[in-house]
Amino acid sequence: MNTYTVLLEAHSGLRYLVLFLILFALIQSLAGWLGQKKYTESNRKINLFAMISAHMQLLVGIILYFYSPLVRTDDIGSAMKDSMTRYWTVEHAAMMLFAIVLFTVGHSRSKKAIEAVHKHRSVAIFYGLGLLVVIVSILQSGRPILGR
Ligand code: HEM
Repeated sequence: MNTYTVLLEAHSGLRYLVLFLILFALIQSLAGWLGQKKYTESNRKINLFAMISAHMQLLVGIILYFYSPLVRTDDIGSAMKDSMTRYWTVEHAAMMLFAIVLFTVGHSRSKKAIEAVHKHRSVAIFYGLGLLVVIVSILQSGRPILGR
């Protein structure tokens, strides 16, 4: 296994953790928001771990970016002409970065909010939007959401 394969395996596998934790955080925050529940320590931890998993994915993604043969930063002109290299050079990174910004904003707004309902709401809205961006982006890649 070379460095590229190790990084691709790690990035590919981490997706499950990110998808699972974000979905979990989304479901519990929707339940908390709509059901007017308390914001518990376990809610806070799940929301935090979900955001951390996305940040770990960002880190591996940035390193992988420099190893992937599908990323063509040397000749952006021709990379843009091919839908596959355009996707991996620009679209994937940009959309996933946007999703991670949404997770981060949602988490930080939930920390600043005073009332439980507002904490739950900001996680529900921002994690929900971010998850949608992640799913659309993976669908666009032509690779399966779950699997290789
Ligand atoms: C929530 C964040 C992200 C998720 C869920 C995600 C998900 C994925 C998935 C599912 C793949 C395909 C793996 C496979 O076919 O086995 C992939 C590949 C890749 N991702 Fe991400 N990604 C994320 C963020 C990023 C970021 C921020 C970057 C770059 C800055 C990035 C760069 C790449 C690269 C270069 C590839 C490899 C393409 C290849 O050589 O096959 N990813 N990502």
